[in-house]
Amino acid sequence: MPSSTQTSPSAPAAPAPPWPGTRADGMAGLEIGGTRHELPVIVGTEGERAIDIAKLRSQTGLITLDEGYVNTGSTTSAITFLDGEQGILRYRGYPIEVLAEKCDFVEVAYLLIYGQLPTTEELHAFRSSLSHHTMIHEDMRSFYGAFPRDAHPMAIAGSVVGALSTFYQDSLDVRDPRQVEVSVHRLLAKLPTIAAYSHKKSCGQPLMYPRNDLSYCENFLHMLFAVPCEEYRVDPDFTEALDTLLIVHADHEQNCSTSTVRMVGSSDANLFASISAGISALWGPLHGGANQACVEMLERIVADGGDVKKYVDLAKKKDSGFRLMGFGHRVYKNYDPRAKLIKSICDKLLAKIARHDPLFDIAQQLEEVALADDYFIERKLYPNVDFYSGVIYRAMGIPVQMFTVLFAMGRLPGWIAHWIEMHQSPTKKICRPRQVYSGENLREFVPINQRG
Ligand code: ACO
Repeated sequence: MPSSTQTSPSAPAAPAPPWPGTRADGMAGLEIGGTRHELPVIVGTEGERAIDIAKLRSQTGLITLDEGYVNTGSTTSAITFLDGEQGILRYRGYPIEVLAEKCDFVEVAYLLIYGQLPTTEELHAFRSSLSHHTMIHEDMRSFYGAFPRDAHPMAIAGSVVGALSTFYQDSLDVRDPRQVEVSVHRLLAKLPTIAAYSHKKSCGQPLMYPRNDLSYCENFLHMLFAVPCEEYRVDPDFTEALDTLLIVHADHEQNCSTSTVRMVGSSDANLFASISAGISALWGPLHGGANQACVEMLERIVADGGDVKKYVDLAKKKDSGFRLMGFGHRVYKNYDPRAKLIKSICDKLLAKIARHDPLFDIAQQLEEVALADDYFIERKLYPNVDFYSGVIYRAMGIPVQMFTVLFAMGRLPGWIAHWIEMHQSPTKKICRPRQVYSGENLREFVPINQRG
């Protein structure tokens, strides 16, 4: 049995860690059954420390058990840094606030994927390539005729992205950097088309071809809302709001869907297959589905007469099983920097549309009541990114089932960046966790006529 674990910086010299951007920081001692084992401690560029347990099993015969990976670093990564206590989120070293103000989503996608901000020429070439890959293979459009009308757009998105590997077999080789790059551009260019088509299918409207003269977000809104029989003008405030929302969702280090993309990719499955798995992971209400859950909660409060205080009180009662959706965060315990950024967009859109929607009144009241309530103040429960994003999408007229698909569009460059980073790592291994078996011991087989 392990009896003690402590770091001992003065103990045996720690070997240089194999991960770029990390350094050795002494050894951690672990005593098991009277024998002391030394495990290297490594430290990252922002001072995060970890015990390297790569040799734990070979040295001790033991494994670690950590359900939900709450204490487990699955990788080192140079893509995103976040500090939940201080409300910091940075992509490739740049604060999210700066990127949201100075870049559009395509530029941020370039930064995440290629590791550096693009030059003017690089950005132009990137935009141009994305614009010229926006259509999906004509035969894929027939899929939309076969999906049930009420299919969830996340189910369609996951299926169609997986099917890209059947239509674009010329870019599946994970060891050929040029083929990977072609797949990256195809995915970024085609996911908005795939997403918009799933909405058109659900409301029985014709699928709108992409327009390559429009920006990334304008084109998506056009495909989502335009119909062939009249001109559709994209509202620049909607474009700006969508652009910012995609930026703030673009990466969030080793979350469930990103870890899924890495896990699937670690077997050398192609990029389309890996991203399709990420979309499935994101679909769940505990992950990307929370903004939908938030709007559904607001709808419930409206339908129940709009008594905000009743629901705030309900959320405070432990046995009610009810929580205020869109409040609190596992990592951000002071404030969610993404929520802070999009709150102003939310306020601006609500003021602009001046459409009476009781749901918006309820959202504003809920925010005010909860922020002034001791229960929420003491537990540091602030509105999170899902609270405002749900309200913004609703204000833009985007149906609630599409919210998680928009999250997937935003998260796509992050997934891709992590998939590439994993493949480029000199220490890459197939992900294959272990387990502690807790089932039956060896049993004697009983023939079926003797069971009873
Ligand atoms: N409403 C009411 N009480 C809450 C809420 C909430 N939304 N969130 C947390 N609490 C309370 C808990 O009951 C607990 O109270 P206690 O200390 O008296 O027992 C305390 O605050 C701490 O809560 P935990 O569940 O321990 O916090 P944790 O970090 O595990 O949970 C989570 C974070 C899951 C996000 C939680 O706040 C929650 O369920 N929020 C609502 C769902 C939501 O909005 N999810 C989206 C997150 S953002 C994103 O995924 C992009």
